Amino acid sequence: MSIIIKTDSEIEKMRIAGKLAAEVLDYIKPYIVAGVTTNEIDQLCHDYIVDEQQAIPAPLNYKGFPKSICTSVNYTICHGIPNDKRLKKGDIINVDITVIKDGYHGDTSKMFYVGEVAPHAQRLCVITQECLMLAIEQVKPGCALGDIGHAIQKYAESNRYSVVREFCGHGIGAKFHEEPQVLHYGKAGEGDVLKENMILTIEPMINIGKRQIKMLKDGWTAVTKDRSLSAQWEHTILVTATGSEVLTLRDEER
Ligand code: MF3
Ligand code: CO
Ligand code: CO
Repeated sequence: MSIIIKTDSEIEKMRIAGKLAAEVLDYIKPYIVAGVTTNEIDQLCHDYIVDEQQAIPAPLNYKGFPKSICTSVNYTICHGIPNDKRLKKGDIINVDITVIKDGYHGDTSKMFYVGEVAPHAQRLCVITQECLMLAIEQVKPGCALGDIGHAIQKYAESNRYSVVREFCGHGIGAKFHEEPQVLHYGKAGEGDVLKENMILTIEPMINIGKRQIKMLKDGWTAVTKDRSLSAQWEHTILVTATGSEVLTLRDEER
């Protein structure tokens, strides 16, 4: 097995899927307020993807996942299952969207603040987004996967945060999760080397406290073992001749 190099026509489909995934995050932003339940957010995203985008929410029934999006609040690291609990002022929440359009996947997530959020929680979200951006700056033909992981680990740990190791970024295309595994820690120069027209996600999960995780009994939800806050940001990225193209870029990031 090896890392798939996408054709021009596949890349065009990935651009469309990526744009749609990004647009779901823009769409849902005004609904992320105190009092809303994550089930309501899930339903809104589901209907938008299916009815407006004529696309498929990839998480739904993926390996048995019961909902259309992942919602990970406060000390939840990732793969939180939407439920009937209401968001409250001061929460931080990751919404992770994956859509399938014309057979190809776009995968992206970001952190939202619910009302006013404590400075230490905001700082975690900002530094985690900067981890993702520093990692994306590494991406170009010849870049080793270790360069990506190293950039994230170095910046997170220099800010006294920890990097979750149990989950990683991934190749993506006609399949949700393809080779390679994109670790968010590592040594510069180590691992597989990127080539033009590969497509992968980078999706660092960063904790204020220790890196250890605990899996909840639902089999999906990962939380920090020490109950410290965790943040995650994700983009789907094409390796170009000279660098990278972020396929899930939102208008606010341009
Ligand atoms: N979107 C997640 C990722 O970034 C995967 C979610 S799998 C699910 O890879 F089944 F939980 F949806
Ligand atoms: Co992903
Ligand atoms: Co995702």
